[in-house]
Amino acid sequence: ERQVKEALILVNEFAQKWYEDQLYNTDEGKSIGLSYFKSRGFRRDVMEKFGLGFAPTGRNGLLTAATAAGYKEEQLEQLGLVRNKKDFFWDRVMFTIHNLQGKPIAFAGRILKKDVKAPKYVNSPESEVYHKSDVLYGLYQARQSVRKQDNVYMVEGYTDVISLHQHGVHNVVATSGTSLTPGQAKLVKRQTENVTLLYDGDKAGIKAALRGVDVLLVEGLNVRVVILPDGEDPDSYMQKVGVTAFEEYLTSKRRDFLFFKADLLLEEAGDDVAARSAAIRSSIATLALVEDPLKRAGYLQQFTGRLGLEESLLVNLVNQAVAERR
Ligand code: UTP
Ligand code: MN
Ligand code: MN
Ligand code: MN
Ligand code: MN
Repeated sequence: ERQVKEALILVNEFAQKWYEDQLYNTDEGKSIGLSYFKSRGFRRDVMEKFGLGFAPTGRNGLLTAATAAGYKEEQLEQLGLVRNKKDFFWDRVMFTIHNLQGKPIAFAGRILKKDVKAPKYVNSPESEVYHKSDVLYGLYQARQSVRKQDNVYMVEGYTDVISLHQHGVHNVVATSGTSLTPGQAKLVKRQTENVTLLYDGDKAGIKAALRGVDVLLVEGLNVRVVILPDGEDPDSYMQKVGVTAFEEYLTSKRRDFLFFKADLLLEEAGDDVAARSAAIRSSIATLALVEDPLKRAGYLQQFTGRLGLEESLLVNLVNQAVAERR
């Protein structure tokens, strides 16, 4: 089992080097891939740190090179690098997904053309070495900084991680577009107890943050949320305003999960009494996920002050929700 995994990782290491070689040392890679990354403002050292690469338009370049180097087609298939005797990734810029030891366990390829209907990113399938729900993109590169800052920013995308890194914000990882899993929350908890969700400033990002809050609270994490301006993601906003304004935005807009959720739902509810009650109940259900009674009481106290409701009423509701949770 362990030897099987190590052998598969060797195959991925070969693939990563091959994609990098295509990017930096071929005409197609340089004119298409490298110029794409440059147009996004990525620096060479950061590109190397994240193992960026290029998969050319040919459909068998990797298969040919890897089998010539002695790797088995069957292994390439198991890793999803080859499918039906053809390269799975082609005509895309490549992102390497690392494990905590910095070894490549999977890849993602981003489409270059804007017009086509094909998915923007394709990702390696699950394999013996890649269990998507237990991986956070960029954690290997972020880990030291996460520990030092005792906080991690969770973003949606690969390029968000890379872009923030380049601007000196190193404590950032990506869920890679899927909803946050308990496995990812546990993974993060081994590095820090403090998570700040920094998702895209659109409906999908806000919805994902609402769901993510609950998953993180269940694992006992302290959860804060920053909502970006409409239409921005961490990468685009960083490129737009620069690192100083970006960090100012983070500091001034960062809110505890409870106020993020309650403010959002109450704003949607407007003056409607029934909708407001539902918003408060839903926020209280989330608060009830906080295991530590001291923290729970602390949040509740702030919450009561904000809502202007009778404290005993809210205390009862929270206690009820705690009794009923999960
Ligand atoms: P986004 O659509 O926000 O892309 O998806 P992005 O990260 O900002 O990428 P750029 O800036 O357009 O290059 C967020 C994340 O969701 C996953 C990827 O991990 C992506 O980074 N995703 C998105 C997919 O896996 N497949 C897709 O087709 C789209
Ligand atoms: Mn396994
Ligand atoms: Mn998005
Ligand atoms: Mn983006
Ligand atoms: Mn995005």
